[in-house]
Amino acid sequence: MIFLDFKLKNDSSKYIQIADYIKERIVDGALRTGDKLPSTRQLSALLKLSRTTIQSAFQLLVDDDFIYSQPGEGYYVSDKDPILRTPSHIQWKHYFNTNGELAKNMDLIKTELPWKKNMISFTSIAPDSSYFDTDALKKSFLDIYSLESNKLLNYGYAKGYQPLIDTLKTYMHSMGIHLKDKDVLITNGFTEGLNLVCNTLTEQGDCILCENPTHHTALKIFMTHGLVPIGIPLSENGLDLQLLEAKIQEHQPKFLYLTPSYHNPTGMVISPQKRVAIINLCKKLNIPILEDGFNEELRFSDIPIRPLMSYSGYGNEVIYIGSFSKILFPGLRLGWVMADHDVIDILESFKRTMTIHTSTLDQAVLYQYMKEGYYDRYLKKVRQHYKEQYQYAVDELKKYIPYKKLYGEGGLHLFIEVQINARQLLEKCYEREVLFLPGDIFHLDDEGKNTLRLGISRVTKSEITEGFKIIGNCLEELL
Ligand SMILES: Cc1ncc(COP(=O)(O)O)c(C=O)c1O
Repeated sequence: MIFLDFKLKNDSSKYIQIADYIKERIVDGALRTGDKLPSTRQLSALLKLSRTTIQSAFQLLVDDDFIYSQPGEGYYVSDKDPILRTPSHIQWKHYFNTNGELAKNMDLIKTELPWKKNMISFTSIAPDSSYFDTDALKKSFLDIYSLESNKLLNYGYAKGYQPLIDTLKTYMHSMGIHLKDKDVLITNGFTEGLNLVCNTLTEQGDCILCENPTHHTALKIFMTHGLVPIGIPLSENGLDLQLLEAKIQEHQPKFLYLTPSYHNPTGMVISPQKRVAIINLCKKLNIPILEDGFNEELRFSDIPIRPLMSYSGYGNEVIYIGSFSKILFPGLRLGWVMADHDVIDILESFKRTMTIHTSTLDQAVLYQYMKEGYYDRYLKKVRQHYKEQYQYAVDELKKYIPYKKLYGEGGLHLFIEVQINARQLLEKCYEREVLFLPGDIFHLDDEGKNTLRLGISRVTKSEITEGFKIIGNCLEELL
């Protein structure tokens, strides 16, 4: 007889305990489909509980589809599979592995102060979407879709959509890169490219030498692969070549990760002379370079500077990772890796195990967009816009924020050093509805506490002025 072993506990409501007890009996088979339950009156007498309590328990079971009521007759066990309706109690947090925990702890969206409505936020360096030429993209989509829809909607190739690969090869060649023995793989942005490189060319514990500070996501990727990033401090003059050589000798890194143009977060650009010297040094010491070219095309200075890879000539030590996230539309999630054939070959195989391939439809639309000349036209327009935006922001910075140092020479952000801890400043600014990123998140070894990054790409000129005034006032109050 069921209910003889039923015992009330003090940890939850009585009607829930009765409902849970009946659910368990249905799941373990003691009660089967079609069985009639005791009436509320009988059960109330047996358990010495009020009929209202029993009625509430039955109602809960009806709501959860475990039983149904037959008016005038009573309650019956329903024919729905009880297992499917049993709530699970897996403690998923106990399953989280070290990599997952690390990614979560380093996830800025979840760990930094959240944006609230009406705040002026200098945290983002995403492009200003009001400049997107959406009509040109729409036209590109319609044109390529009408030509190739069947092909584009089926499985494609892990290496990418061939016309886009060819376009990118021509494009890289126009930037001075020798194509002999090199190939291209299309990726879901820079982030996938770097993950693929780490997945296929590194082992846990390998050291990666990088600029300090550097791109936060790159640090996160290195760490979640069990790699050890070692920073080379950047002075106002950028990378110190002697220090670089000493660090290479000391740590024998697997790679040197560099962002030569509009480095994130400092906005620095490595000069052509220094690019040649870095390539020569890496050739001499046999150290491969991971070149992050994410911002290359946005450079607005008059002196043309070629990617590091181009200075390597026919050499194969540079793996170039490009991205359309800043120079076009980040939502497309499109990027590419250009490297030695053997590197692309292994990346291609790994990509097939991860995502099979990047969306062919997206790649084809981008190809068409580039083929029609829209990309060059857009680039010209936004380069000019970001140049003006940067100059405006620097002027306002000089007027309103008593900073100690301004790094770099351009990009979608300003990186400054102040005389106090940037997190302390952020706390005060947050109260006045202004947000920015504290520079420590880009640093290794607890450095950069007095630095901050001010993203200027998605704010209006008046927000720059107003926000900088607030930051300046807060800073003065704290000094
Ligand atoms: C240094 C650096 N590299 C690359 C990227 C672009 O990454 P993705 O192409 O995955 O959007 C960013 C974006 O902020 C960046 O700051």
